[in-house]
Amino acid sequence: MTDGFNCGILGTGSFVPPNIITNEDLEKMVDTSDEWIVSRTGIKERRVVDKNVATSDIAAIAAQRAIKDAGIDAKDLDLIIVATVTPDMSFPSTACLLQDRLGAVNAAAFDLEAACSGFLYGIITAKQFIITGTYKNILVIGAECLSKIINWKDRNTCVLFGDGAGAAVLGRVEEGYGILSNCLGADGAGGQFLSLKAGGSRLPASVETVEQGLHYVSMKGNEVFKFAVKIMASAAEEAVNKAGLTADDIDYLVPHQANIRIIDAARKRLKLDENKVYVNLDRYGNMSSASIPVALDEAVHSGKIKKGHNIVMVGFGGGLTWGSCLMKWGK
Ligand code: ACO
Repeated sequence: MTDGFNCGILGTGSFVPPNIITNEDLEKMVDTSDEWIVSRTGIKERRVVDKNVATSDIAAIAAQRAIKDAGIDAKDLDLIIVATVTPDMSFPSTACLLQDRLGAVNAAAFDLEAACSGFLYGIITAKQFIITGTYKNILVIGAECLSKIINWKDRNTCVLFGDGAGAAVLGRVEEGYGILSNCLGADGAGGQFLSLKAGGSRLPASVETVEQGLHYVSMKGNEVFKFAVKIMASAAEEAVNKAGLTADDIDYLVPHQANIRIIDAARKRLKLDENKVYVNLDRYGNMSSASIPVALDEAVHSGKIKKGHNIVMVGFGGGLTWGSCLMKWGK
């Protein structure tokens, strides 16, 4: 599976802000109910940052934890990739802000945007530099302050999302461990289903765009739902097949955390027991690119993922995009 070196995860870290918004809190803000949100999504509460906190602030905490877990120094990093749809600003990139904050003086840095699939796009990009021997240690982060781009008066979206950050240090691992297979995909024709229309070169921010709320996330939830149910299982299957394995060989599934019904549909198609799937969306909602790395970090540090396990990470998101990765855990 590799060109020269084997690439795996050397350490993980995550951070979610302490402020909790429960479904009961949302009942006071929009026309919704705890019953509706739990039965349609599985979400009970989500975390949100304070007004003065930006994505690089929470990313830095997750990154420091991952660097410590990997047993390296920030100066050992060769590259930082930040996957986010909520960068601190258009430029400089959040990765560059973080490079400075971490003192990662030897690292190149760039942001990558693939919405909720961003972390998987990030680690599969990082893998290319590792297996060819170009770089040794790469920090990949998925971090979002989605609370800043959500219309808190729109019940269709505000109940779904939360803030958080997850990070992983990728590097060389011994033969037989690390990333065994991966897949990435996109369907730009479905981009209209999930977008933030204003603030780019097509529709620069103006008084009118703000008045029309075009600087907030807009989503056709049922279109995204239909796409997600299909793609979660097929992307996971693709990674399993490419590795020459079967679904029976999966020890643990770490899926994107958008909706429990989407996760359950994928789990059933893969014929996996519930105890082989990590779920934390009840506590955090959908944190976009941060969902998978936060779930991974929790699953690893709670002892659910162990050395030698075959784990599959799989996600989908705006773009539309998707990705999956099968890894033999080596720590
Ligand atoms: N509370 C109460 N009612 C609501 C709420 C709410 N919070 N939100 C929507 N409704 C209403 C709708 O207005 C609609 O009412 P109507 O029939 O009178 O028009 C009704 O509930 C049913 O809406 P549906 O869209 O049919 O509900 P559905 O069962 O599809 O669930 C949901 C909606 C949860 C959004 C689902 O479609 C979903 O999870 N989609 C995927 C979304 C997703 O994953 N997005 C993130 C992608 S990742 C990324 O890149 C950020």
